Formats: sequence, structure tokens, C-alpha cells
Amino acid sequence: MQKTSDIIWQDTQHQVLFELIDQIKEVPLDPDILVRLKLYAEHHFILEETYMVELGYPDKDEHIEAHDRFREELAAMLETDPTMGKFLQDSLSDFLYKWLKLHVLGIDKKLEDFVMKSDSK
Ligand SMILES: [Fe+2]
Ligand SMILES: [Fe+2]
Repeated sequence: MQKTSDIIWQDTQHQVLFELIDQIKEVPLDPDILVRLKLYAEHHFILEETYMVELGYPDKDEHIEAHDRFREELAAMLETDPTMGKFLQDSLSDFLYKWLKLHVLGIDKKLEDFVMKSDSK
């Protein structure tokens, strides 16, 4: 695993996710944004989950369940009509933004602290 003084990949990937979520507000909505968000979120979750499994992280199950709820939201979102309109785009974007912010500041931070204390970063 990559060794750094900080978990740079985690911060960088969260930033990309926030940017993609922000782009949902753009009119007209580009359906590719939703697909890119889903693929990138999956890439990010898998990486965090790999760390949790490899390091024997004690709160792994709770964290993976939280990711699964986000996965379900994204899957439902991809079923949505891309011509949903500005109001729904904004609501969706705000919902995902708030969820991600809470997740990043909460259980992702706990994971980061755990990874930082271990040898593998
Ligand atoms: Fe996470
Ligand atoms: Fe994360």
C-alpha cells in the first residue's frame, strides 16, 4: 500500500466526488455526470473497503453498510429521468452533498485515524 504522511488519496477522491455532485445542478443535466459519479464512488468505496479488510478495521461492517446505502441512492438516481428539471436536480445534489459531507467528517475520519495509526497508508 502507498505510504505517505497523510491519506492523500482519500481527500483527493472526496474532492472529486463533491465536484461531480455539484455538477448535477448544471442545466441541462448531462446524464454522463450521474454515470461518472456512480463509477467514481464505487472506485472510492472499494478502495476504502479494501483498506478496512486488509487492516482488520473493527467498524468495517457499519462503514460498508453506509456505503451500500449510498450505492442504493446512486442506483435509484440512475433510473431517474435526466430531464427531471432544475428543482429535482438541486434537491438530489443537495441530498448527496449533505450525505457525503456527514460521511467524510464522521466515519471516514475515524477510518483515516485508524489507517494513520497503522503501518499501511
Ligand atoms: Fe467511507
Ligand atoms: Fe470516503
